[in-house]
Amino acid sequence: MNDTASEFQATKELTDKYLLDLFNRYPVAFRYGVNELLFDQNNKQYIDFLCGVAVTNLGHSDPDIIEAIRTQIDKLMHTSNWFYSEEASKLAELLILNTFPGKVFLCNSGTEATEAAFKLARAYAEQKQIHDPVILSLHKSFHGRSVSGISLTGQKKLHTGFGKLLDGIEFVTANDEEELVAAFERFAGRVVAFVAEPILGESGIIPLTHGYMNLARELTLENEALLILDEIQTGFGRTGTMFAFETFGFSPDVMMLAKGLGSGFPIGALIIAEKYQSVLAKGTHGTTFGGNHLGAAIAYETIRIIQTRDVLANVNSCSEIAFSRLHQIKDKLKIVKEIRGKGLHIGVELSIPSRPVAELCLEKGLIVNATGDTVIRIMPALTISTQYLNEGLDILESVLTHFQNQ
Ligand SMILES: Cc1ncc(COP(=O)(O)O)c(C=O)c1O
Repeated sequence: MNDTASEFQATKELTDKYLLDLFNRYPVAFRYGVNELLFDQNNKQYIDFLCGVAVTNLGHSDPDIIEAIRTQIDKLMHTSNWFYSEEASKLAELLILNTFPGKVFLCNSGTEATEAAFKLARAYAEQKQIHDPVILSLHKSFHGRSVSGISLTGQKKLHTGFGKLLDGIEFVTANDEEELVAAFERFAGRVVAFVAEPILGESGIIPLTHGYMNLARELTLENEALLILDEIQTGFGRTGTMFAFETFGFSPDVMMLAKGLGSGFPIGALIIAEKYQSVLAKGTHGTTFGGNHLGAAIAYETIRIIQTRDVLANVNSCSEIAFSRLHQIKDKLKIVKEIRGKGLHIGVELSIPSRPVAELCLEKGLIVNATGDTVIRIMPALTISTQYLNEGLDILESVLTHFQNQ
């Protein structure tokens, strides 16, 4: 065994021995990253079409993000939410200026943003004196791994094995307008919230139609229910606008954010529209780490970069290239059934299992994600160059051709 092979072996052995065995890991350990590229312990190069699951949206080692981290750690990393923070206050202002009037709760992850949204919906029900409230969520959705997260998640496989989940959650089928109307009728006077991802990510990139979202807005307004959007995966430019909701023509009442907000630093946020900003009263919710000085400074810099470097223009031009090439691949290869998504949030539905495809891509130097059993999910850096976008798509095409010819 050469030195680098034994280095990986040592990492694997320590991982297997000490880290809880929860993930179906690929046999690679990355050492460093530069823009849209990652390098493993052998210095083998990989084009990153995953971004740590839509997190490192500005690529790896962005010099301005590094500078923001250096400047902030020289000053202060963490105090407590019991004190005022210049960094958190400026981040909250920037989030509101880019979303809708209201207030922000800063936390550490998507799951925690979901948890805060769930508590908000329950507190709203208490205030309205609705004693058997219903939250509507979507089949095939994903909202996190805590008990409230899996309770809101519309995937049976994630529900089992943990006893009774939280009650008062009913599921409807994405884009089925009749079913949505029927659910509001069936639970008349009890629906306090409708929760949805604008594009269902973990189930294989399923976009909600504008018609469906507009109906959801109408019904939530009529029924005085909260429209809660989970933009944890779609937020911060991933779909070609700063937030996916912008193309719907209305804003939600509540929005969960995380992932791309911190460029790799764990931070999440819940944005609550003005009308509901007093529902969670002082002392009813909190966090030790959420929105600390370091996280807030990094998130502020992340948003500043998206706005000042024309990142969205790059997303839209790269998206056109990606969709056009993927449609050409679909025309050539029968195993490619459908191309879905928006911006650089793309799903390639196959007629074969997607995990072996992702494994062979990895061997050939391309990182993609296999999700929803038969979908390849493509989420490169929003700043990716056309050169590496095309090189990555070349690898994907050659791998899919290999499986087609098997
Ligand atoms: C749409 C959506 N909601 C919630 C979550 C949970 O976020 P986290 O893993 O940061 O807790 C995820 C994570 O994949 C997600 O994609």
